[in-house]
Amino acid sequence: MDPAARPVVGLLGATGITGRTALAHLVARAPLEGAGVVVGARDPGRVRDLCAERGLPVPEVLPVDVTDERSLDAFVRRVDVVVNLAGPYTRLAPPVLAACVARGAHYVDLTGEAPLVLRTDRDLHAPARAAGVAIVHTAGFEALPADVLVDAARRAAAARGETLRGADLVTTVRTPPGTGFRDAVSGGTVQSLLEVLRDPDRWRTGDVAARLPDPAPGSGTAADPDAVRRTSPLRLPPRVAGGQVLAPMSPLAAINPPVVHRTQALSPVPGAPARPVAFREAMAVGRWAGLGGPARLAAATGASGFQALAGLVTRLPRPVRSGLADALSRILPAAGTGPQGDVLTGWSWTTRGTFTTHEGSTFGAVLEARGNPGYGTTAWLVVELALRMAVRGVPDAALGSSTPALALDGDLAALVPARVRITVDGRPADR
Ligand SMILES: NC(=O)c1ccc[n+]([C@@H]2O[C@H](COP(=O)([O-])OP(=O)(O)OC[C@H]3O[C@@H](n4cnc5c(N)ncnc54)[C@H](OP(=O)(O)O)[C@@H]3O)[C@@H](O)[C@H]2O)c1
Repeated sequence: MDPAARPVVGLLGATGITGRTALAHLVARAPLEGAGVVVGARDPGRVRDLCAERGLPVPEVLPVDVTDERSLDAFVRRVDVVVNLAGPYTRLAPPVLAACVARGAHYVDLTGEAPLVLRTDRDLHAPARAAGVAIVHTAGFEALPADVLVDAARRAAAARGETLRGADLVTTVRTPPGTGFRDAVSGGTVQSLLEVLRDPDRWRTGDVAARLPDPAPGSGTAADPDAVRRTSPLRLPPRVAGGQVLAPMSPLAAINPPVVHRTQALSPVPGAPARPVAFREAMAVGRWAGLGGPARLAAATGASGFQALAGLVTRLPRPVRSGLADALSRILPAAGTGPQGDVLTGWSWTTRGTFTTHEGSTFGAVLEARGNPGYGTTAWLVVELALRMAVRGVPDAALGSSTPALALDGDLAALVPARVRITVDGRPADR
């Protein structure tokens, strides 16, 4: 293909903890998909060094500081899709989002910073749609797997002439021996959480209907906030099911449900009533049976309590939240630190879904992944989604403030190079 005609994926944040993994994956995978790569970084030399040190192809690198409009604009003009891994997003993403809408480039990131996402829904959905742009926040471990699995189940139900009623997901993470907190959380993620605490807007914590487009109260549809809240409440308490001790989804159970419900509301199955799906998910802590059972339940109870407390803290007056964030930022890990290299491999994780339909059927779906979910899989997923968007485009339903499932458009096989395999109702989704 004429290099000038190739779709181009642009990467920001390539020198960060998550960005370095994404960079390595992108420069290796893009040529296989017929795509080009342009990286934007404050220090282009560091990006070139990172590639050279690892024996990777060195992509074109432009000097970009996202707070400098001119350098950002020159970068966005060159690309079809921006993968933005420069966080914290609350502070750094708004100019990137504005440039993408202005220049007609699609946008994907990994943010779980809820106030920012809600502002994108409110302020950028219509302009992005008008510009033919898809903006996809939460396109990593949060909230792509849950969103895509529920969407796949809904399509599988529709293929049988049925309508999805319930989605119950359980994620199990298997870590290598000796794994600690610092192998699971980066300083960038910690700083993002603190940025949410400082946000002037109150976070609608736990509101599963927070991202519904064009809410239709009283309609009883997937766009009816009360119907969605009633059918699919956020539940934090621990439980025991299927012989497993289950904790709320990690890191925050409040992140995925609004994404899943937005997908359902924005793309109703043709001919089927767009009814709310009862969505529930959990993180498996371990087996209930045996001597360790009560200790596992205690751990799950601790995780529930922490998440409930985090929800309460986001409702405090802003000066209190800000003061707390400033105090915590002095003791918690700083940006630029986190899991790297070998720590990203040796992990595996699985999300098992049990789905029901209004017609009475039950079926399963399984997502199996290899790699550290938060810093390996997440980087590979966001890159694969961006490559697919660049090479194959996005459907009309995915334009505007979108979701991972809408942008993926049912192409589960596109996730295989991210070491993620999905099987729905016994059928593996390989190309
Ligand atoms: N949803 C998920 O599954 C998931 C998983 C992992 C991470 N995340 C999120 O991803 C984000 C990144 O995390 P991380 O740990 O990788 O962060 P990090 O290590 O602190 O990296 C931040 C990156 O942003 C770049 N950057 C900062 N300010 C910039 C500016 N003004 N212009 C251009 N680039 C700038 C930094 O470049 P320099 O080298 O020039 O400083 C660096 O490359 C965080 O918000 C985190 O919450 C989400």
